[in-house]
Amino acid sequence: MTQVIQPNNGRWHTTNMEKLSLDQWNEAPTSALVTYIIDHFHDRLKIQIPQINLLFKKELGNKSNKEYTADIIAAFHLFSEFAHQMHFHLLQEETVAFPLLLAMEKNKTPENLKKLTPIITAMEQDHQDDLTFIASIQKYTHNFRPPLSASENLKLLFTSLKELIQDLQLHIEMENNLVFKRFKTVDPA
Ligand SMILES: [Fe+2]
Ligand SMILES: [Fe+2]
Repeated sequence: MTQVIQPNNGRWHTTNMEKLSLDQWNEAPTSALVTYIIDHFHDRLKIQIPQINLLFKKELGNKSNKEYTADIIAAFHLFSEFAHQMHFHLLQEETVAFPLLLAMEKNKTPENLKKLTPIITAMEQDHQDDLTFIASIQKYTHNFRPPLSASENLKLLFTSLKELIQDLQLHIEMENNLVFKRFKTVDPA
């Protein structure tokens, strides 16, 4: 089950997501949110992407799947591009954006804000591209509905893609609206 960070007696720990209010999310320190994002979204994506890649390759080797071959090929091309871009996106967040956010949380200087603003803009643009990818992958998988004759591999591929997309939507929502947003309105000291 998806978990999130929740305050408890002044400390932060993970708990079931449905128990958390938006106010509690907003109260969480940036360091806790960043840790949560890396542990629950980034690390999971690094496992999901190669797994889905293998399922695509297995499916594309299945010559009996004629009805859906064109859509599966299109989805695979989109996914390959997404995987490539996501590799760099995660790297940029973990090595540039998140360390700057943490520095800014501790020390709200104009210098830190100046460095942070372009990287937030770049990350948000990547997120916009992810939303385009999500819409296209929904189209080519017929909203993750495999044909009646689908192999077990294709069913697993669609289920895995659906999970990745659901995680990605939450991941983007959290970064844009909880983490990046708080630094877009900040007044440097
Ligand atoms: Fe991220
Ligand atoms: Fe991101």
